[in-house]
Amino acid sequence: MCGIVGYIGNNNIKKQLLDGLKELEYRGYDSAGFSILKDGEIYSYKAVGKITNLAQKAKDFEIDGEALGIAHTRWATHGKPTEINAHPHFAEFSAVVHNGIIENYQSIKQKLQKEGIEFLSQTDTETIVKLFEYHLKNDSFEAFKQTINELHGAYAILLLTKKEPDTMFFAKMGSPLLIAKNDDEIFFASSDAPVIGKAKEVIYLEDGDYGYIKDKKIHLFRDNKEINLSWTTLPQNKEFAKKEGFRFFMEKEIYEQSSVLQETLMGRIDENGIYFEEIDKDFFEGIRDITICACGTSYHAGMVGSYLIQRNARIKTNVEIGSEFRYKNPILNKDTLFIVISQSGETADTLEALKMAKNAGLKTLAICNVDNSSIVRLANKTLLTRAGIEKGVASTKAFATQVMVLWLLANYLGNKNENNIIMQVSKVCKVNDKLHEKIKRLSKRYLHGHGFFFIGRDVFYPLALEGALKLKEISYLHAEGYPAGEMKHGPIALADPELYTIALLSKNLLFEKTKSNIEELSSRDSTILTISSQEIETTDDFIKINSTNHYMLEFYEMMVITQLLAMEISIRLGNDVDMPRNLAKSVTVE
Ligand code: G6P
Repeated sequence: MCGIVGYIGNNNIKKQLLDGLKELEYRGYDSAGFSILKDGEIYSYKAVGKITNLAQKAKDFEIDGEALGIAHTRWATHGKPTEINAHPHFAEFSAVVHNGIIENYQSIKQKLQKEGIEFLSQTDTETIVKLFEYHLKNDSFEAFKQTINELHGAYAILLLTKKEPDTMFFAKMGSPLLIAKNDDEIFFASSDAPVIGKAKEVIYLEDGDYGYIKDKKIHLFRDNKEINLSWTTLPQNKEFAKKEGFRFFMEKEIYEQSSVLQETLMGRIDENGIYFEEIDKDFFEGIRDITICACGTSYHAGMVGSYLIQRNARIKTNVEIGSEFRYKNPILNKDTLFIVISQSGETADTLEALKMAKNAGLKTLAICNVDNSSIVRLANKTLLTRAGIEKGVASTKAFATQVMVLWLLANYLGNKNENNIIMQVSKVCKVNDKLHEKIKRLSKRYLHGHGFFFIGRDVFYPLALEGALKLKEISYLHAEGYPAGEMKHGPIALADPELYTIALLSKNLLFEKTKSNIEELSSRDSTILTISSQEIETTDDFIKINSTNHYMLEFYEMMVITQLLAMEISIRLGNDVDMPRNLAKSVTVE
């Protein structure tokens, strides 16, 4: 995920910017850059990869005295992680850094291109600075206001222009941005971490805030009126700041799902269709069936994908575990599309399976979160999931975005339009405080016993597998996912009050069938927690989801609940939620 730093002062500005960026490294990035405005000149450096690469490139650049600087770490979402796509972005005499998504950037870009304005990068950000100069006649602040008024979507923006050598412009909508100060220095940052230890006081900007700093005087506008500045003391705990107030990275990532899913969809969907810039439609020509291959959580996403693709596109879809596929001497037909799914893009078993498929001449497609990873480099085509870095070992937002990409693909291949439902998913994934409180309370009843069964049917079966995996990964309690209809073929022998069943009961898909399966367990005295919009009397606990008319909306709401439940149980058991024992985030060995 991207990060922003800004600095106005005379205390070694290059170092201030690079130090600030280093504090944002934990958010993940694949390129970085900065621009410094001093005496009417803008000096800029950008580099792909680590901040040390940027520091190395700028090593001979020295600047003393009062100056203004903006800096950025970029995690590629729209456009490859290249130097050109790295921020700052430029127009003729201005530079900008931006976090967020400009949803209407394509239409702004087309408008400007018609006026003869040329673009260098593939990013939405470049449109901001080009639009600013397009509007700039005499008054730079007016041009800046006009620019942000035209932007739809989310942004935190810092902009410098040679036309105003002592001024920095800023705006915030939907993406975090703060101003912090010391006696003689002013800082901007997208989160607390870069300013802790450097500044004493802070203003967390609100959505819709904008303004400028001229000669070190801050002019902050809210509802089009300049307002008084109300500073608060900056908290001093860096580790806490990195988690943005959440107890664990996993919790932060669960809460982030709603916004990263918007990123996943950006530019890929409107009311009429689904678009994959990265792939020409003829790539799919001649495909008779699909094999999806992955490991762990990504495998579960693949299973959901197989239900969605078969249902919506009527294409036979097979799902394989990477480590199994490699050694089964698989039959590889050239008219099979081979899809690999991986958060990290480095999982050894998935990578090897991909090599086998590619060598056998199959078309290969990666669904991955990390651009330029080994899997992305090897596959013929890639759809990035755009989840941002995931730090919690137990995968959450990566799964949510993988399923989303697969759902888009299923509709794209089947020419189906469920777009207005898809566009509601982000809202459904917003964590509701009351619900989280309820899960926290409920979790104390589920700390012992001899195991958990998560049960569901259709796409709720892989969700049951994923719910069980989350729970066992971080609570170390035994948990299994089962197809609800399969319980009677063996596992039900375990049913007793100390066996906990988490039942995923959809109103829209196989309701009566699943309900009967739950009743079978209830009559054997299993302790049951049902997650559904429909309360059934025969179970012990109930978490109510919204009554919606599509099973995938239920799916996403239940997903968030199972993640929170696993986390709250783990917290009560005193475990390290983010770094569970024996597990690694990226498994690059067999
Ligand atoms: C590890 C991680 C899991 C992940 C799996 C596959 O086991 O702990 O969270 O699902 O690898 O990783 P990938 O990066 O390929 O999705």
